[in-house]
Amino acid sequence: MPNESVKFDRAVDYYDQTRGFPPGEEAAVGALIARVGSLSASSRVLEIGIGTGRIALPVAPHLSAYYGIDLSRGMLERLRAKQNGEPIYVVEGDATRLPFPDNTFDAAVAVHVFHLIPGWRDVLRELGRVLKPGAPLVHGWSKRDEGYQSLWDAWNAALPSRPPDVGAQWRETPTFLEDEGWQPVSEEQYHTYIVERSPLDVLEGARQRLWSSLWRLTDDEIERGAAAMQAAVEALYPQPEQARQFESAFIVRAYLPDIVFR
Ligand SMILES: C[S@@+](CC[C@H](N)C(=O)[O-])C[C@H]1O[C@@H](n2cnc3c(N)ncnc32)[C@H](O)[C@@H]1O
Repeated sequence: MPNESVKFDRAVDYYDQTRGFPPGEEAAVGALIARVGSLSASSRVLEIGIGTGRIALPVAPHLSAYYGIDLSRGMLERLRAKQNGEPIYVVEGDATRLPFPDNTFDAAVAVHVFHLIPGWRDVLRELGRVLKPGAPLVHGWSKRDEGYQSLWDAWNAALPSRPPDVGAQWRETPTFLEDEGWQPVSEEQYHTYIVERSPLDVLEGARQRLWSSLWRLTDDEIERGAAAMQAAVEALYPQPEQARQFESAFIVRAYLPDIVFR
């Protein structure tokens, strides 16, 4: 198992285009996180793996200060270029060693990051240290649009020995914090929205390795996966270039640290 975190330098130029929420949805996502994390105008918050600020920019207007840490300088530079007066302060660094004193933050935020960090349990320990007593971690993740699952099923069937995620396993996203002893203090809260995408876009994105789970595959594996996906596209979609609408969901849940971290 690789022992290095997956840093997003190679995704800097396309991350916002391929991962951003559809226009108009960001504000609802920001409000949802603020509500689930009980954030107020005086809150000081830390996001680990802040990236280009997809989450930070809409959450920051709800609070006093939003700190973020990321391994990728390029991702942080993108965030800075988009910042427009929001109280966001970033540091280039590793979430397994947080450069902040104990009991600093009123909440932490983590979205799409634990599966990228081999030392994710160290991150949890660090979050337990820097959170004030009673302060939650707001964990967020997206549910892939169901519509194209059959395309990925075809891809996966062609590559049965795909490497596992380097960190917490993505398929365990809804449960691993509880398994580690963190206590859920909210239900899972959903924000649903429509994504428009054509089957050919999905295939082309896979060929271009847009998703980090594809970065470690060999060229031969990418070719095999893409050939299987292309066959599924041709079988299922007579007009594969035509965009279709899919209901997607962004899910958040708040947790309190395991008492052993204190
Ligand atoms: C999938 S992106 C998510 C960015 C943002 N949270 C969002 O939802 O758009 C994951 C980010 O985590 C960063 N990252 C990966 N391992 C990290 C680590 N050990 N410490 C800090 N950041 C890390 C990557 O560089 C990348 O910018």
